[in-house]
Amino acid sequence: MKIVVIGSINMDYVLHVANLPKKGETITALNYHISPGGKGANQAVAAKRLGADVLMIGALGNDSAGLDLCNRLDKEGIDVSGILFTDTATGNAMITVDEKGSNTIVVFPGANAKLEKTWVGNFREEIKKADCVIIQLEIPMETVAASIAIARSYGTRVILNPAPAKEIPLEIYRNVDIITPNETELAKLTGTEDINRGAKILMDRGVQEVVVTLGDKGSYYLSNERELIVKPVKVNAIDSTAAGDSFNAALAVGLNEKLDMEASLQFSNIVGALTTTKIGAQNSLPYRDEVDRFKK
Ligand code: RIB
Repeated sequence: MKIVVIGSINMDYVLHVANLPKKGETITALNYHISPGGKGANQAVAAKRLGADVLMIGALGNDSAGLDLCNRLDKEGIDVSGILFTDTATGNAMITVDEKGSNTIVVFPGANAKLEKTWVGNFREEIKKADCVIIQLEIPMETVAASIAIARSYGTRVILNPAPAKEIPLEIYRNVDIITPNETELAKLTGTEDINRGAKILMDRGVQEVVVTLGDKGSYYLSNERELIVKPVKVNAIDSTAAGDSFNAALAVGLNEKLDMEASLQFSNIVGALTTTKIGAQNSLPYRDEVDRFKK
C-alpha cells in the first residue's frame, strides 16, 4: 500500500501547563520539550508505523532543525525524496498542553509556505501510482489545489484534512473524496455547529464523503448512501496533539486494506485514542502491533 502525504513539517515547541492561559494572563509552565511535528509529517509517520509505504512531499529550511526533521523521517523508513530544502527557516509550532490533554497550537509556516505546486508536479508519477494522497492546509492553498487536481486526474483517492480550517475554493471540494474536519473546523468551514447540517453543506460543495472527528465522542460519517456514528474507545488521555493526524493516516490505511468505512473508522478511532496516551506529536504515534494488541 502506497500513500503520498503532501503537507507541513514543523519543529514543535511544547509547554505543559496546568490550565491553558486566558487572554492577557501570564502563567508558569510545568515542563517543556521540543519534538518533531507538523500535520503532514505526523500523518506520514503514522501511516508508515501502521504499515504503509510513504512518500513525504514537503518543504524544510536549510537549517539544523530542517536536517534533523528530515533525518528523523528517513529513519522511520519514509521516502524523503519529496522534501524540498529552501532558504526559509523550517516551520515551527508553539504548543501548550493542559493537564487534561487539551492543547492550543500556533504555527509559524516558515519553509512550509514555500512548498509550490511546481515542486509537487515533479512527483506526478508517484501520485499516479499511489493508493491514496493525504493533504492538509498548512501549505499554500494553490499547492493544495494543484496537488489534489493531479491526484484526481489519475483517480488516486484524496483525503483532505482541512486543518487549520480556512476558506477552501470550490474546485478543491469537487476533487476531494473524503474530507475530515474536527468539530471546530467543521463549524468554521460551514458556519454551523450542527454536525449533520455541516456535513451536508460540505457535500453540497462537491465532496463525496465527510468524516468528522469528535474527540472523545468518536467519529461521524456521511455520504449519499449512509450516515454512521462510530463509538470512541476509552483510554487515559494525557495529550491530544497529533490524534487527528494519526486518525487520518489510519483512515487511509484502513480503507486501502479494504476494510469497509465503519471498520476503518473503528480502526482510526483506536489509533487516534492511542495517540493521546503519550506526550508529543510524532513521539506518540502508535505502531501497528500496539494497535492490534489494543484491538484484541
Ligand atoms: O496536529 C498537530 C500538529 O499541528 C503539530 O505537530 C504542529 O506542528 C501543527 O502542525
